[in-house]
Amino acid sequence: MKNYGKPANRIVYAKALSNDVKLFEIASPYIAQKALPGQFVVIRHREEGERIPLTIADLDRTKGTITIIFQEVGKTTKDLGTLKEGALLLDVLGPLGVPTEIERFGTVVCIGGGVGAAVIYPIAKALKSAGNRTIAIIGARTKELIILEDKFREITDELYLTTDDGSYGRKGFVSDELKRLIEQGCKIDRSWAIGPAVMMKAVANLTRPYGIRTIVSLNPIMIDGTGMCGGCRVQIGTETKFACVDGPEFDGHAVDFDLLMKRLSTYTREEKCALQSYEHERRLEPADKIKTSNSAL
Ligand SMILES: Cc1cc2nc3c(=O)[nH]c(=O)nc-3n(C[C@H](O)[C@H](O)[C@H](O)COP(=O)(O)OP(=O)(O)OC[C@H]3O[C@@H](n4cnc5c(N)ncnc54)[C@H](O)[C@@H]3O)c2cc1C
Ligand code: FES
Repeated sequence: MKNYGKPANRIVYAKALSNDVKLFEIASPYIAQKALPGQFVVIRHREEGERIPLTIADLDRTKGTITIIFQEVGKTTKDLGTLKEGALLLDVLGPLGVPTEIERFGTVVCIGGGVGAAVIYPIAKALKSAGNRTIAIIGARTKELIILEDKFREITDELYLTTDDGSYGRKGFVSDELKRLIEQGCKIDRSWAIGPAVMMKAVANLTRPYGIRTIVSLNPIMIDGTGMCGGCRVQIGTETKFACVDGPEFDGHAVDFDLLMKRLSTYTREEKCALQSYEHERRLEPADKIKTSNSAL
């Protein structure tokens, strides 16, 4: 790895995990000292940029770095993805959120859908270190989008892969694989499901009749990430909670997923417009003039 020195917020290592999934290792000594599995950071990578929450997918306390893995889904994540090793991020705030409850539960199943695999990786790693028999089910739409397979192999007792189109692993959804395990008599003491809301809902509906406690990590729109704006409110049973300070993990059997999905689509039109104008601007600019958040690059 190149040595760029260690001013906080510098990207010390960057790698594309697939066409639209990027990994950044960021110098962030204070966050690296404090962060625990299940926590996230809020990043604003440039002065006029939006604040976005991203999970701390890994960390190295000795080097003082944290790792984020993100999918380029809209304007901010696509712009972030243009940054290279050595670039400075303007703000990295964290660690935020309540850490995952890590104990020796027995047999645990960690289910990650799409980029949710990056979010569940540190949780699976910590559960394994705590002495659990750790099974992971990782799924994506297609082979290209399966990430961290080797890392999961290192830290799990069993790993199952699924793709929607059957291009890798078993054809189908992660919930189909979980159903197969349950029907084969696998006794599961606790499960985690992290990915698109529709996937977490399917897993929670599957495990409910079996009484398998299922923890999900919710991804509502967040702004401050510290409990002030109310943007991330979610309904858990009869209670309204703020995912940034009360979560992001909650009992999947109590989450109102329909409300979450409705709230996630509130700004679809604006998000689409922002992405279109961003891509239009990028097409107009010569490659060597495309702005990055770090003018020193
Ligand atoms: C606690 C938490 C942890 C997350 N961890 C990861 C991660 O590790 N990797 C990853 O790829 N993604 C993660 N996300 C989702 C990520 O924050 C969004 O994909 C990102 O904000 C999209 O921004 P955009 O401008 O590129 O896309 P947009 O076009 O603005 O939006 C695309 C989608 O992202 C959602 N979104 C937009 N803005 C926000 C926001 N400020 N907060 C949350 N969701 C938003 C929208 O509802 C929409 O569904 C996490 C979200 C939360 C709440
Ligand atoms: S992001 Fe503002 S209250 Fe949670």
